[in-house]
Amino acid sequence: MSLDLLLGLQWGDEGKGKIVDAITSNYDIIARFQGGPNAGHTIEFDGNKHVLHTIPSGIFNKDSINLIGNGVVIDPGIFLKEIEGLNKYKIDLRKNLFISKRAHIILPTHKIIDATSEASKGKKKIGSTLKGIGPAYMDKTGRNGIRVGDIIDDSWQLKYNSLKEKHLNIISNFNQSVEISLDELEKDFFNGIECLKSFNLIDSETYLNNSIEQGKKILAEGAQGSLLDIDFGTYPYVTSSNTTAAGACSGLGVAPNKIKNIIGIFKAYTTRVGSGPFPTELFDSTGERIRKVGHEYGATTGRDRRCGWLDLVALKYSVQINGVTELNIMKSDVLSSIGKLKVCTSYLIGDKEINYFPFDIKSKEVIPQYIEFDGWDQNITQVKSEFDLPKELKDYISFIESFVKVPIQLISVGPDRIQTIYRDK
Ligand code: GDP
Ligand code: IMO
Ligand code: MG
Repeated sequence: MSLDLLLGLQWGDEGKGKIVDAITSNYDIIARFQGGPNAGHTIEFDGNKHVLHTIPSGIFNKDSINLIGNGVVIDPGIFLKEIEGLNKYKIDLRKNLFISKRAHIILPTHKIIDATSEASKGKKKIGSTLKGIGPAYMDKTGRNGIRVGDIIDDSWQLKYNSLKEKHLNIISNFNQSVEISLDELEKDFFNGIECLKSFNLIDSETYLNNSIEQGKKILAEGAQGSLLDIDFGTYPYVTSSNTTAAGACSGLGVAPNKIKNIIGIFKAYTTRVGSGPFPTELFDSTGERIRKVGHEYGATTGRDRRCGWLDLVALKYSVQINGVTELNIMKSDVLSSIGKLKVCTSYLIGDKEINYFPFDIKSKEVIPQYIEFDGWDQNITQVKSEFDLPKELKDYISFIESFVKVPIQLISVGPDRIQTIYRDK
């Protein structure tokens, strides 16, 4: 009787998609619980590379059910494109993919509000992916939203028209001109709605709880990362959902006492895309090297990801907030031949050294305190056993484990599904 949870512990893009895909055969159901197409989850296997935005990353395992949970916001146009993109894999999506009736729908005008709102912020912009996420969640909590279950009855279009009018008023008040064609967005949107209707739209909370009772194994897949959480992230430079463990309960309708393992994923360094504080950010050739070697460019927007050293103050915070029971370290292969490595173990703010993640981080005022580690030159991308990893990497891993007091169970050494080292429990 259990549900495991898999979450990103940094600012997103930790490699969640890769791991969900790699471990999906251990589960009967993979369920996404929050976020929307702001996510880009990359999966590589057998020479294929595929990026998923709304559909859970278990979709390539034909034996498991994938569920888009009630906490997710769905853009029907993007959803349709994702479905079309999966055609070549010959997966029976009408059988393997379920969608919660309670999930909210992103309207074309949500995307325009996102763009005009960002444009009006100037230098203070969030760096949103402009997928309409913030405005869609605002309508959800404002009790104006349209849900997937609504589209079964055609009368939803009346609600659509009145919400669209309201949005157009909001947009005109921003006094910003953005180059987005509402007509084109609406065309994609209505095609997408027809596509959505052809899927199995379900009362997902009942389905999941019944499945738990029947002894099925469920993996809840998070999107974004803990430091982008609406409550615990670097507000206001965050996304608009609870990306942390509690979000899985509200985003799927499962109680906390059903959760067993909480798997936290982090990169061996740190990245961030979009604006906001990032104490360990590197502005030098080392940061550039990490970006190039790690291909740190946004999977959804193609933007350069900002790169820096591993921040253990932030990691420990994420481990605490989520109650992480096991860790997965990603992309240590990217650090091969980089020379000495640094990890941040505390922040100096003014004359005060602190070892926790504070309410407000102003990057310029925070001086990360680092510990240095010897690096390694070995190419580790083909290593299959932890015993064959360089001693320096093993030391690095041991230090992280002792600092955050949670074991690292999986070491990822490349983007492919098979470039994964599982450690004995
Ligand atoms: P997600 O949003 O957490 O699923 O992560 P993204 O897919 O946005 O970004 C992770 C990127 O790193 C993708 O391009 C993956 O293919 C790649 N990746 C995942 N794990 C590894 C790894 O261990 N080593 C390397 N070099 N690349 C990895
Ligand atoms: P995955 O699931 C990295 C960032 C955006 C921006 C902020 C708000 O692939 O890890 P939003 O579009 O939500 O209004 O953007 O959050 N962001 C992500 N960064 N990975 C993601 O998802 C992200 N989703 C949103 O760059 O700074
Ligand atoms: Mg991503």
